[in-house]
Amino acid sequence: MGYKETLLSPIKIGPHLAQNRFFAQPMECVDADEEGNPTELTCRRYENLYKGGFGFVDLEAITVTNESRARRTQLEIMPRNEKPLANLIKRLKEINPNVLLVFQLTHSGEISDPEFSRRVAVKPLPGFGGELLTEEMTEKIIDDFVQASKIAQAAGADGIDLKFCHGYLGSQILRPFNDRPWKYGGPWENRSRFAYDLMERIQRGVSDKGFILGSKLSLWEGFPGGCGSAGPDSPLMDLTEPLDLVKGLEERGAVYFVESLGNVHASMNFMEAVQDEPYLSYLHFWFADILKKTVKPETVVIGSSFSPFRGNVNKLLAVEPGRSSLFAMGARCIGDGMMDMIGLGRQSFSDPFTPLKLSEGRENEIQYCNQCMNCEELMLRQKPVGCVLYNETYRELFKEVRKSLGKLAELHS
Ligand SMILES: Cc1cc2nc3c(=O)[nH]c(=O)nc-3n(C[C@H](O)[C@H](O)[C@H](O)COP(=O)(O)O)c2cc1C
Repeated sequence: MGYKETLLSPIKIGPHLAQNRFFAQPMECVDADEEGNPTELTCRRYENLYKGGFGFVDLEAITVTNESRARRTQLEIMPRNEKPLANLIKRLKEINPNVLLVFQLTHSGEISDPEFSRRVAVKPLPGFGGELLTEEMTEKIIDDFVQASKIAQAAGADGIDLKFCHGYLGSQILRPFNDRPWKYGGPWENRSRFAYDLMERIQRGVSDKGFILGSKLSLWEGFPGGCGSAGPDSPLMDLTEPLDLVKGLEERGAVYFVESLGNVHASMNFMEAVQDEPYLSYLHFWFADILKKTVKPETVVIGSSFSPFRGNVNKLLAVEPGRSSLFAMGARCIGDGMMDMIGLGRQSFSDPFTPLKLSEGRENEIQYCNQCMNCEELMLRQKPVGCVLYNETYRELFKEVRKSLGKLAELHS
């Protein structure tokens, strides 16, 4: 089979059918209104992904509470947001009712910004701190997640993604560093309790059994004591716990997993391979392969870190350059059984029409991401996020940001 046939072939996710193998990664864009509702900018971004032909779309990290959050204008999912979220989904379904849509539910924990919200910690990391989470506070957070799942379902989403990656609260509780003696800390049995209770309660809470449950995971956070390390301060990798987590979540109803690595404040390059280190993508493929070998054959595994592959021109040494493009490499990863779908993150910013252009034979028109990371900078500076290289709106925003910092408004090329 050629790469086009592989990437455009449908796949079952639980009882649903994704039209192709393209997964739009959850990408926080900091463009909600002051109540956490989608704005016109938000709606247009998702409309483009729907028009652009993605089979499965993961709505960016949406916070289950506005009390603690990482971005000032982050999307929120509380009772007041149900109607605006339903309106967004209605607009999307009018474009294509067959695209599968899940919401990535999150709580930022120690990454919550104390400038405008309450920073809470499982066990404070140096340089972070925050109010220590009590068992009561943690149970309230579980309630918030369950409530958010019901809102997602009522608003018309097809499912949810529990965010256990990149150092947000889900990862903070799971990591061996959380050796505090409390109900959710210390031995693995306690550290996995939050994730398992959450999945069980959500499964019971959503009436439709076809509601898609899954999770994006940092299988290895890449710092001593992080998820996937051998002990509270160990720099050694040990995947026993992350793989146990995957099986435990699967037993409780998860039907898909998105592979990820790294942590937003300690090991960012593992999350997002940058221009000079594109080869970190291969590490992701290795982890996706382990994930695929761990789960049941019908559980869908989605691989990450495809943006550095671009067209035939990239910085990845290949025996045959033609086989190292994003599409060729994606189809190979699927064909070799390492994963079932390919996730596009930054590439979904630079060209949300990537899958459509492949299907229409317009590959030469695709705008490829160059990993300049200016989108990430917009996010970290609490500005609406998008592609600075190809989109005038974000290019202007980026120039303003740099000007206000007193730096040259130079754009990476
Ligand atoms: C601006 C920006 C926002 C992101 N927001 C999220 C998010 O909300 N949730 C998440 O799990 N990952 C998030 N990520 C990580 C991506 O989803 C993805 O895992 C990563 O960029 C690697 O994929 P890529 O090489 O295709 O970009 C974000 C990345 C960037 C650059």
